[in-house]
Amino acid sequence: MQKDPALRGHERIETSNFLMIVLILVVIAIGGMVEIIPLFFQRSTTEATEGINPYPALQLVGRDIYIREGCYNCHSQMIRPLHAETLRYGHYSMAGEFVYDHPFQWGSKRTGPDLHRVGGKYSDEWHRIHLIGPRDVVPESNMPAYTWLEHEPIEGVRVPPRLRAMQRLGVPYTDAEITDSAAAVAGKTELDALIAYLQSLGTHVK
Ligand code: HEC
Repeated sequence: MQKDPALRGHERIETSNFLMIVLILVVIAIGGMVEIIPLFFQRSTTEATEGINPYPALQLVGRDIYIREGCYNCHSQMIRPLHAETLRYGHYSMAGEFVYDHPFQWGSKRTGPDLHRVGGKYSDEWHRIHLIGPRDVVPESNMPAYTWLEHEPIEGVRVPPRLRAMQRLGVPYTDAEITDSAAAVAGKTELDALIAYLQSLGTHVK
């Protein structure tokens, strides 16, 4: 095709598929870099917020049970910075609160309420009754009953390797904490661990 000498400037781009595609990709790439590159230097997203410590052994086990039972299918752990959310759940979630979460449990599905700041909202006994039979405390609840957790003891031997794996991912557990972790869960059930985890959620930041 012969070039039309009358096509100049922007018109030339608009009438050429090839130029249009290449330039759109260039613009998207620049926009992407502007958004992404500063994150590599922003410490507040990769360093623990003050007060955030690695999960003690029992809570870490509870977190594994939370993941195993698929609680994240109905519960998010991400309070958005919107008035309606902070009124209902408390202070919005901050990136530095999740640095020891591998993987994080933000979720996006809210069949039930957000749980990021549920720690301390109810007593351990309330959680115990609620997890074994949600409708005993909230009659209209459609949350499943987790009746088996109270009968499942935690196997101590499996706990130190879990902490060791987290340590490899950058969670600063000391070797002593890892060695002692089996003893820390001795005699506890899966229900105890899950409740310990729930009660810790969102409580570290004042
Ligand atoms: C099928 C969806 C569903 C699943 C799966 C589910 N939940 Fe729920 N959950 C709900 C609903 C709905 C409510 C609100 C009614 C109630 O309190 O029972 C709720 C409420 C809660 C509450 C009380 C929150 C508050 O602020 O009042 C906690 C704690 C909770 N769930 C924990 C869990 C845990 C832990 C698991 C996994 C073991 C789990 N849920 C699995 C639907 C679900």
